[in-house]
Amino acid sequence: MTGFRITDGIDRGTAFQFTCDGESVTAYPGESIAAALMAAGKRQTRVTARRQMPRGLYCGMGVCWECIMIVNGKPAVRACMTPAEPGMKVETQHGVGDPA
Ligand code: FES
Repeated sequence: MTGFRITDGIDRGTAFQFTCDGESVTAYPGESIAAALMAAGKRQTRVTARRQMPRGLYCGMGVCWECIMIVNGKPAVRACMTPAEPGMKVETQHGVGDPA
């Protein structure tokens, strides 16, 4: 699947990279982590604690907490509300995100 990012007619600023589960992801200034991940075709943000079911973006506005991820070692960070930053380390959260 290719990305969904609009590429023509918009000045997005200078692209930068962060990693998600060890893979490089391109983002632009002002994008949330969730927006950059969606543009990269990545849909899963976490796995539920009890049934290990995949979850991803749902409300996209900070209400549902379905998009929580581990960001720079901190669990339960809402990807839809957190701006992407150069070099940040984002990981899929398993359960409540206890360190392995
Ligand atoms: S998608 Fe609902 S809080 Fe992020």
